[in-house]
Amino acid sequence: MFDAHAFRDALGTFVTGVTIVTARDEQGQPFGLTANSFNSVSLDPPMVLWSLSLQSRTLPVFRDAENWAVHVLAADQQDMSDRFAQSGEDKFAGLTALDGPEGAPLIEGCAARFGCRARFEYEGGDHAIFLGEVVDFDRREAEPLIYHCGRYGRVMQAPSAQDLERQGLAERGSGGLGLTAAGSDLLAALQALAKS
Ligand SMILES: Cc1cc2nc3c(=O)[nH]c(=O)nc-3n(C[C@H](O)[C@H](O)[C@H](O)COP(=O)(O)O)c2cc1C
Repeated sequence: MFDAHAFRDALGTFVTGVTIVTARDEQGQPFGLTANSFNSVSLDPPMVLWSLSLQSRTLPVFRDAENWAVHVLAADQQDMSDRFAQSGEDKFAGLTALDGPEGAPLIEGCAARFGCRARFEYEGGDHAIFLGEVVDFDRREAEPLIYHCGRYGRVMQAPSAQDLERQGLAERGSGGLGLTAAGSDLLAALQALAKS
């Protein structure tokens, strides 16, 4: 049907954040994995979803868990993303795995955290889709880690007219906003870079 690589590459053009989803098994052991399939679903009731590969070693844990938590990683947490993307390791080794209010392990230093009560599991081809009701959340002013075409990245805000004026790259004249000499030089340099 589809070329699998081409399909993956096309999906990878969709920019996402990076999360770590955590839960405890019945013995109380902490589990977690890196996931960018997280998405918001509903505001009222508050619900989110994410999907887990049927190949994942943590699948039985999330199937049985009554609660799980999604941690939206901050830009300085790339090493945590790598750690939780490695299957089979004791991913919590050396971390203090305290629990959040909902009872799932807490990863510190995140941009946001959503503690959830597990609600539904759906079939999604070679993934299981988990839907949870958010029972607790937390947010901190932090730049998020992003993921695009298989690589980590950072958010670059599109500059506003005020930003360009503040940086001396544009100025207001009778004809509206126009580039300054510095703005024109920068544009020419970027165009040359794009052609090279
Ligand atoms: C940025 C990133 C996003 C990922 N997103 C998902 C995901 O949404 N679902 C999934 O099942 N695996 C995802 N993975 C892969 C898992 O993190 C990886 O397979 C992990 O080793 C699974 O751990 P486990 O086998 O211990 O459950 C992602 C990996 C990376 C690096």
